[in-house]
Amino acid sequence: MRSATTPVVSGQRASSWPAALDLIQSLSGLALGLFMWFHMGFVSSILISEDLFWIVARMFEGYFVFGKPYYWIVSIFVAVIAMLLGLHALLALRKFPADWAQYRSMGKHTSRLRHGDTWLWLIQVATGFALFFLAPVHLYTMMSHPELIGPYESADRVWTGNFWPLYLILLFAVELHGTIGLYRLALKWGWLPSAATEAGRRRLMQAKWLLTAFFLILGLASLAAYIKLGIEHAPNAGEPYTPAWIQEGAQ
Ligand code: HEM
Repeated sequence: MRSATTPVVSGQRASSWPAALDLIQSLSGLALGLFMWFHMGFVSSILISEDLFWIVARMFEGYFVFGKPYYWIVSIFVAVIAMLLGLHALLALRKFPADWAQYRSMGKHTSRLRHGDTWLWLIQVATGFALFFLAPVHLYTMMSHPELIGPYESADRVWTGNFWPLYLILLFAVELHGTIGLYRLALKWGWLPSAATEAGRRRLMQAKWLLTAFFLILGLASLAAYIKLGIEHAPNAGEPYTPAWIQEGAQ
């Protein structure tokens, strides 16, 4: 973070790098935010049926195109998301307060301004910091064991594999971080849902909280479904899920 007291040398041409880095950070954040919406859609298919989640998982492995699963497709996809996350986190580090003096001045500004958006920025910094540690655990598991994605396989990981506490914290961190990020992007680039700035900001904030609530409820309901299935399947943990129609076809 550049200190407010950093002198700007007059006559020197301003570098375009900070703007370029800011744009890359915005674009990588937008891509990750949109990915998380799709991700929640796929993961929550378990709420409709176990078969549907099985179909979604196999679809990503190319099963319905090639007639058999190619797990490396999933691993490559996860690696791309991990790189995007790494890039986004690296660029975000520029904005973190760097020393005690900066933390102190940030604290003073926050309590003096009492502005909602300043608090949102602080929540984004804190949740971003948490994601920095938590998301790689999940991504590495998905990348190294793509064959273990399915109704029983996922539910066993969540319950018998004790992943549910990680997912619970990850869910709150990612939903707060993502929706605050998208809200800030919309403000930054002027995508307000009304020509009147004040009303536009208000509506944007309402949309932001609605989205946060929607994805948190969907995520909690899905996590509860994996936990329930995981508890039921615990005696047979490790056994993969096969839809009844495939079992019947094989007989
Ligand atoms: C930024 C990256 C990611 C984050 C923050 C993230 C976050 C999460 C969270 C919070 C859950 C629990 C969902 C719930 O509460 O119902 C979850 C589950 C899951 N995620 Fe991700 N995810 C990410 C990337 C991915 C990728 C790239 C894949 C692709 C394979 C993936 C596949 C899954 C699956 C299959 C589950 C179900 C549980 C399991 O099988 O362990 N995630 N993820």
